[in-house]
Amino acid sequence: MKILLTGAGGQLGRVLAQPLKQMGELTAPGRDALDLADGKALKDALEAIQPTLIVNAAAYTDVDRAETETRQAYLVNAAAPEIMARWAATRGVPLLHVSTDYVYSGAGDAPHDEGEAPAPLNAYGASKLAGDEAIAQSGAPYLILRTSWLYDATGRNFLTSILHAARTREELRVVDDQVGAPTPSALVAAVAMEILQAGDPRETFATSGGVVHAAAAGEASRHEFARAIVDGLRKRGCDFAAQRVVPVSSAEAPAAAKRPLNSRLSLARLSERFGIEPPDWRAALKPVLDAVARAEKKPAP
Ligand SMILES: NC(=O)c1ccc[n+]([C@@H]2O[C@H](COP(=O)([O-])OP(=O)(O)OC[C@H]3O[C@@H](n4cnc5c(N)ncnc54)[C@H](OP(=O)(O)O)[C@@H]3O)[C@@H](O)[C@H]2O)c1
Repeated sequence: MKILLTGAGGQLGRVLAQPLKQMGELTAPGRDALDLADGKALKDALEAIQPTLIVNAAAYTDVDRAETETRQAYLVNAAAPEIMARWAATRGVPLLHVSTDYVYSGAGDAPHDEGEAPAPLNAYGASKLAGDEAIAQSGAPYLILRTSWLYDATGRNFLTSILHAARTREELRVVDDQVGAPTPSALVAAVAMEILQAGDPRETFATSGGVVHAAAAGEASRHEFARAIVDGLRKRGCDFAAQRVVPVSSAEAPAAAKRPLNSRLSLARLSERFGIEPPDWRAALKPVLDAVARAEKKPAP
C-alpha cells in the first residue's frame, strides 16, 4: 500500500505518521516539499506518488486569522481536499479526511449528530465545510472524521496556550460558555488507525455513513478544561505563576472569529458502526498532562 499523509508536521499528522508507516510505504511531504495551496503542485505530487490511500491531516487551522486570510484558508481547507478527492475518485483510491465541530452552528445544547445541516459561524468553519462537501460530491471512497478541540503536549493548541499563560500570569480569564470535548490528537489517530485496519478501507468507508464524529466522551467548558490543565499540572509538581482561573463569557473575551457555544459531538455513529467508545475527556487528558509535567520538570540544558 502506498500512503500519502499530508500535514505530518501538525498535531494530528505527527501521531499518525508512525502507525501509517507500519501499514505501508509512507510519503509525508511537509509544506516545504508540497504547498497544498498550490493546486498544480498537489496534482503533480499525486501523479508522482500514485498513492493507494490518502490521509489528509493538513489544514489551515488559525481560526482568527482565517477571517482575514480567507483565501488561503479556502485553498488549503477546500480546494486541496477537492483536488485530492477528484484524483482519488477517478482511481478508486480511499481518502481519509479530518474535519471539525466548527462546521456546526453551535445552537442549542444537544450533541450535534452527523446528519445535522452544518451552519458554520466563521470563515475557518466555512472553508472546512466546503472541503467536506467537495469530498462528499467527488465520488471517491471517503471517510471524514470530525473532531473537536484538538490538543497535544506540544504544538500550538489550547493546552499549550494555557500552559504558557499559567507560567507568566497570576490570573487567567477563560470563557465558560463554550462547551465541547477536549480531544488529544492521539485519540483521533487511534480511531483513524482502528478504522483503517478494520479491512479494505474502500469497503469500510462505504458503510461508515461518510461523516463520523471522533472525539473524547463527556463535555467541558473551556474554563473547566483550563482548570483541569492547571490543577492537573500543579498536582504533578509543576509550579506556576497562575493563582486563579476566572470564568468569563465569550462576550467578555472578544476574538476576530465567532466560535460556536455548543461544540458537543454525538459519538453514537462511531459506536454503532465501528464499536469504538472513546474515553472521557478527563481520562484522555491524563497521559498528556504526564508528558507535559515530565517536560516541565526536565532541567534546562
Ligand atoms: N486544532 C483543533 O482544535 C481542531 C479541532 C477540530 C478539528 N481539527 C482538524 O483536525 C485536523 C488536524 O488539525 P491539527 O490541529 O493537527 O492542525 P495543525 O497542528 O495546525 O497542523 C496542520 C498541518 O497542516 C499543514 N499545512 C497548513 N497549510 C499548509 C499548506 N499550505 N501546505 C502544506 N501543509 C500545510 C501544517 O504545516 P506547517 O506545520 O508548515 O504549518 C501542519 O503540518 C485538521 O483537519 C483540522 O481542521 C482541528
